[in-house]
Amino acid sequence: MEHARLEARINDKADLLSMTDTNSNSLSDYSLLLATAIQAARAAGTVLTEHARSGFRIEYKGAINLVTDADRVAEERIVQTILAAHPSHRILGEEGGQGGSADSRYQWIVDPLDGTTNFAHGFPFYSVSIGLEHDGESVLGVVLDPVRDELFTAIRGQGASMNGEPIRVSDVKTLDKSLLVTGFAYNIRETSNNNLDHFARISLRAQAVRRTGSAALDLCYVAAGRFDGYWEVVLSPWDMAGGIVILREAGGLISGISKEPFSLYGQELLATNGLIHDQLRGALHQRPEGP
Ligand code: IPD
Ligand code: CA
Ligand code: CA
Repeated sequence: MEHARLEARINDKADLLSMTDTNSNSLSDYSLLLATAIQAARAAGTVLTEHARSGFRIEYKGAINLVTDADRVAEERIVQTILAAHPSHRILGEEGGQGGSADSRYQWIVDPLDGTTNFAHGFPFYSVSIGLEHDGESVLGVVLDPVRDELFTAIRGQGASMNGEPIRVSDVKTLDKSLLVTGFAYNIRETSNNNLDHFARISLRAQAVRRTGSAALDLCYVAAGRFDGYWEVVLSPWDMAGGIVILREAGGLISGISKEPFSLYGQELLATNGLIHDQLRGALHQRPEGP
């Protein structure tokens, strides 16, 4: 379905009710589910924008792991929107949001604010990420950057778009010409599996390596050809669920790093334009030289 028409339809309540809790899996049904995801992401984006403007409370989940009331309110909006349209669908939300029935064939995976540290510091780089699994397969992804008003969307088998325009990965072929991105988990101080060795080694091989602080946008930026590759070693399913569908549909490749095949629940992720995948994987596997 064409993007503007799809966004218009999500405001039509009758449309949402007519697709309530569908159990079929045709492509057109996924476009109606995409409408729900877009509506939920936009509602959450509005919450983030309002809180960024008017202020928010910060709490600590760990030494460097923040959460704000914007995270929580945004997740509530997403859960409400999804359950209004699909009351039995299961929801896995980072901030504890749940719903539906445990045996539903559909599971929505929600990060209401990906980039909380950036948000809390007023660094304008964060997103809302929503992915959908159907019978355990990732079928749909929506990532919204509310600061730049960039909406990344994809349905499996139908390509990826940003604001309704098709997007495609870059055609950079070598690691030394690649702009890469990575990230570090909140347990960086507690584990030696903290990605610092990879970061140091790959920085000497790539054109440059960035760290933006929003995994979902990192995946979308590879999808849009703004980055050529992305890796991270300790991620949660909600960091990746929306972006992996968008990246694959934009022609990108996803794998594990130390274990294969890639799993949304396997923590690690290597995502590239496909052309540099083996080079980057090889460089990540190179052990640091001993004494
Ligand atoms: C974090 C961001 C960051 C990544 C961290 C994530 P959050 O998510 O995606 O880029 O490096 O591993 O935990 O906490 O801001 O939703
Ligand atoms: Ca996240
Ligand atoms: Ca988050």
